[in-house]
Amino acid sequence: MLTAPDPESHVYDKPPAHANADWTIDQNWSAYTAEEHATWDTLFARQREMLPGRAAQAFLDGIDILHLSQPGIPDFEELNRILMDATGWQVVAVPGLVPDDVFFDHLANRRFVSGNFIRQPDQLDYLQEPDIFHDVFGHVPMLADQRFADYMEAYGRGGLRALKFGTLKQLARLYWYTVEFGLIREPEGLRIYGAGIVSSYGESVFALDNDSPNRIMFNLERVLRTEYRIDDFQQNYFVIPSLDELLRVTVETDFKPVYEKIADMPDIAIADIIESDDVITRGKQDHASAQSGT
Ligand code: PHE
Repeated sequence: MLTAPDPESHVYDKPPAHANADWTIDQNWSAYTAEEHATWDTLFARQREMLPGRAAQAFLDGIDILHLSQPGIPDFEELNRILMDATGWQVVAVPGLVPDDVFFDHLANRRFVSGNFIRQPDQLDYLQEPDIFHDVFGHVPMLADQRFADYMEAYGRGGLRALKFGTLKQLARLYWYTVEFGLIREPEGLRIYGAGIVSSYGESVFALDNDSPNRIMFNLERVLRTEYRIDDFQQNYFVIPSLDELLRVTVETDFKPVYEKIADMPDIAIADIIESDDVITRGKQDHASAQSGT
């Protein structure tokens, strides 16, 4: 059985003894128990059922391209054969959180790092640390899309630049509000593509149907300035008009002048709406207030 890393002990500054120099480890697929495979199947069935009409077309296509409906936790070797063929990406296992530069270097080389452990059966709805269900079910389908594949590679290179510029905090917000919690406008309506949403039973409904959060059209500077929360459903979702448009304003844009411009501007508090926002839904924010007891 593959257990979660101890949150206290896994933030190393060099790779642990059992890991390679680039921090990767063997997925050790044969060590998963029947119970662990069953946990994957339960999570998969529950998400798969609700995603038509909610998840972005690229995400749904990715599930099919990668044959993710096969029962059991995916074997990276098998998964990578298909993924490599589709977009040149691979999934590699790591022991837990890795340092930023290591993470970005993997992305820049089309390697997506994933935890290899799966949550316990009593943690189906919430866990603090990304497990293989979040990482593989949540992230990997989009990597089968050519445009998103290019986006993630460019993000890795952008991350290495941001480390040099000292603008990681700003760039991380872009990851958060796209890769993890992004919405996209499709002809039939808003759809989810962020991994944090599509891998969460509660948030895949909340993000689209609840009247608590704000839904705002994506704007690069705005997103780079916006704070986010990691402990509950989001209070803001940013909506991209298309993946092509996301690439145009990120991959094809040099962020250096953008970082310089926003350096003197204040951060935007989580739920604030600003004048330049193109607001789709102004949230009531009652979910957040209820949670904080105000
Ligand atoms: N173009 C960005 C830069 O100049 C890098 C980037 C690409 C960031 C894609 C995010 C996504 O730093």
